[in-house]
Amino acid sequence: MRQSSLVVVANRLPIDDSVAPDGACEWRSSPGGLVSALHPLLRHTPATWVGWAGGTGPAPALPDVDRVRMHTVPLSSEDLRDHYEGFANSTLWPLYHDAVEQPEYHRRWWEAYQRVNQRFAEATAEVAERGAVVWVQDYHLQLVPGLLRELRPDLRIGFFLHVPFPPPELFMQLPRRAELLRGMLGADLIGFQRAQAAHNFAQLVAKVLELPATDRRVAVGDRVVRIGAFPVSIDTAEMAALAGRPDVAARARRLRRDLGDPDHVILSVDRMDYTKGIEQRLKAYSELLASGHVKVRDTVLVQVAVPSRERVTQYQILRDRVEREVGRINGEFGRVGEPAIHYLTQPFDRAELAALYRIADVMAVTPLRDGMNLVAKEYVAARVDDTGALLLSEFAGAAAELPQAYLVNPHDLEGLKQELLTALQADPADVTARMRAMREHLHRNDIHAWARSYLSALDDGGSLLNHISTT
Ligand code: ADP
Ligand code: G6P
Repeated sequence: MRQSSLVVVANRLPIDDSVAPDGACEWRSSPGGLVSALHPLLRHTPATWVGWAGGTGPAPALPDVDRVRMHTVPLSSEDLRDHYEGFANSTLWPLYHDAVEQPEYHRRWWEAYQRVNQRFAEATAEVAERGAVVWVQDYHLQLVPGLLRELRPDLRIGFFLHVPFPPPELFMQLPRRAELLRGMLGADLIGFQRAQAAHNFAQLVAKVLELPATDRRVAVGDRVVRIGAFPVSIDTAEMAALAGRPDVAARARRLRRDLGDPDHVILSVDRMDYTKGIEQRLKAYSELLASGHVKVRDTVLVQVAVPSRERVTQYQILRDRVEREVGRINGEFGRVGEPAIHYLTQPFDRAELAALYRIADVMAVTPLRDGMNLVAKEYVAARVDDTGALLLSEFAGAAAELPQAYLVNPHDLEGLKQELLTALQADPADVTARMRAMREHLHRNDIHAWARSYLSALDDGGSLLNHISTT
């Protein structure tokens, strides 16, 4: 077994789950912040990525992708149901997102979560060379740091949570809360998106495990586990370059023409997820149409919503409700050849996404809760001429970094309608001043800065960073 000095461990491998019959695989990021976040870094860094290839049954052998070795962990159909769809996405996901949907607790799901985490830890132990740096990602694998430390105490282990970490009053609902916290504490460094999450975690370990903890460190026996905020970002330069390409500009012009050259284009791009506030946004838009504040003739809404976690009931219910509401709004307010909402559920390549960002006069990103929200950052990066208004939920991690956005509370329907109108009617000079400030922030705080700051904190005097591209 070949071993690596840097191992990334994530539920998903950074490839599409379809593998061609000849065994070849394409590097096609599946929609999702985690994959998008790490892709640019690992393209330049010899490393192994341990993850699930999608699907069930024996793990396919995959070729290296851009020098990154793919080490596949198999999931059975029971693992898929009880670990991925169950404990990860029907217990932890809703609980960590303010319980906007009811989290479910089942003992069988917890058993599957333990079993799959153990499998990931064993796979990682096999491919990590002595003293390697291992970076474990996200809520699917919270037990891996602890399990891996037992197997391989020589490793330097980092854990990063891409989603919010909830306040104690929510986390305390978890039947196996102590085990989950102990699992995370197997890491040397635990990274969160926001300082508030690190604070929540410190409070919980003090309360549940009775360990001495501050917002920066936890004492676990003779070890010190550091904790902190490392807000994830995007490849700002890559998105800006893409958006500036002549073919993308031409595509954007064509898209705008196809939309009927409206005065205003509002765009939303989400995974079809109940955390994204899609229904609240549609309601706000529909009420503005009904009151005549917005007219289909001069304003269109483009809603991209890629189906996600499709076998989970709450996701099926959401999709049905969204599609019914889109149908109702188009039926009521659309005209022949002029729908009120252009609704798209397809995955797009990066160039098409960049063209969409270019035509959006207002980008509406209004999740009820979101760890970060990379779409908001991608939009800003794509606005190379400093135009465009970002309507952003104050409950997205990105809001802490982009205070110049038009910030909204998506639960407040009247506030949402008002701020959408404000963004639509904003003075161009104000829009430009805000956009310029946000672009400057993202220029300095891109994905490379994020990875450098996390890995240098984790490596702490080691040599790993010499291998990491600074481009
Ligand atoms: P989440 O991680 O919850 O899905 P983010 O906004 O943080 O939300 O990340 C979503 C990522 O998926 C972004 O990089 C975005 O560009 C990508 N994405 C979303 N919708 C599509 C789509 N229709 N086609 C291709 N990529 C998409
Ligand atoms: C969020 C999570 C990621 C996950 C992505 C897509 O960004 O933080 O870990 O990969 O959603 O969800 P999926 O269930 O398709 O992996």
